[in-house]
Amino acid sequence: MKKIFVFLLAFNICIANELISPIPQSIEFDKEKALLGKKLYMDKSLSKDGTISCNTCHLIDNYGVDNKMTSPGVNNAQGVFNSPSSFNAVFNFVQFWDGRAKDLKEQAKGPLLNPIEHGLNESEVVQKVKDNNDYKKDFDKLYGEITFDNIADAIAEFEKTLITPNSPFDRYLRGDENAISEQAKRGYAAFVSNGCTSCHHGVNVGGNMYQKFGIFIQYPNQELLGLFDRTKREEDKMVFKVPSLRNVEKTAPYFHDGTMPALEQAVQFMAYYQLGKFLEEDTINDITAFLKTLTGEYNEQTK
Ligand code: HEC
Ligand code: HEC
Repeated sequence: MKKIFVFLLAFNICIANELISPIPQSIEFDKEKALLGKKLYMDKSLSKDGTISCNTCHLIDNYGVDNKMTSPGVNNAQGVFNSPSSFNAVFNFVQFWDGRAKDLKEQAKGPLLNPIEHGLNESEVVQKVKDNNDYKKDFDKLYGEITFDNIADAIAEFEKTLITPNSPFDRYLRGDENAISEQAKRGYAAFVSNGCTSCHHGVNVGGNMYQKFGIFIQYPNQELLGLFDRTKREEDKMVFKVPSLRNVEKTAPYFHDGTMPALEQAVQFMAYYQLGKFLEEDTINDITAFLKTLTGEYNEQTK
């Protein structure tokens, strides 16, 4: 009996090995456009009151997050969503909690125009970039002209460099048995056997499908209804993009509303809401130890 169980577990892990894949060392990007994109990403003058850049909410020296429940934008206006990481976002199948942007370029236009983020309109963004002589030469050379579309394109190019390869778990996947602890290995097995991988898999251990939040137990905060808020279809109520668990140890607080401060709690509540299970404390600690092995290294390629 025990043998069969061990076999099944091993079989499951084999499948999961294919389900979670390591982050590549780098992906193709245009270095000059990325360098320009980085300047734009860091530029606070591209906001209504000169206080907000992409880096205000997605800090590149802090795993692409600000660790706030929700983020203040221009004039201290509060958003309603927890800021997801800009790190490894390039591997998500769509962008935003409700997937309303199909890629990074389309995504980058959102915050610039969002009244409670950068708070500008298209022509104001273009004018601010034109006003800064530093940008002129780059745009002339790389794009021919300064347009809103080209600005978003350069930012998206920079975001292709915001990836974190070489996490201990990636090294483990590539064959280094000692890259993660025994506890993390137990946690990984529990992550698979409890069904977490049915939603969290792929390069980003998430980020590649939509799922309802609160499958077994209804999530108490029904203020934001996810996909429903843009499609108005009944079956889209409380459906969100499954978030990536890359660097999850560093991206607290958790959930779309940022209400969950600790990773252990997020694991417990995931099992409860999504799987209808109460996990033992040891199992929670093991899964948490596994999740911490997903913390990678940001190798800055735009110095
Ligand atoms: C005031 C804070 C704030 C600023 C400034 C901001 N963002 Fe965001 N960002 C957010 C929030 C909040 C979300 C999630 C919103 C949603 O899903 O509706 C988000 C979502 C994203 C995502 C999607 C990630 C995912 O997993 O879906 C990316 C990529 C991103 N932002 C990049 C940028 C870029 C590039 C800029 C600058 C042009 C920027 N952000 C400016 C707060 C901010
Ligand atoms: C049925 C799909 C599904 C299953 C199964 C599932 N999750 Fe999730 N997970 C989600 C969704 C959807 C969210 C986003 C919830 C929200 O809207 O805040 C999420 C969010 C999370 C978060 C918070 C990430 C963040 O940045 O806010 C963690 C941690 C997490 N899941 C871990 C797990 C673990 C551990 C398991 C197994 C016990 C698990 N999940 C099982 C779909 C799933």
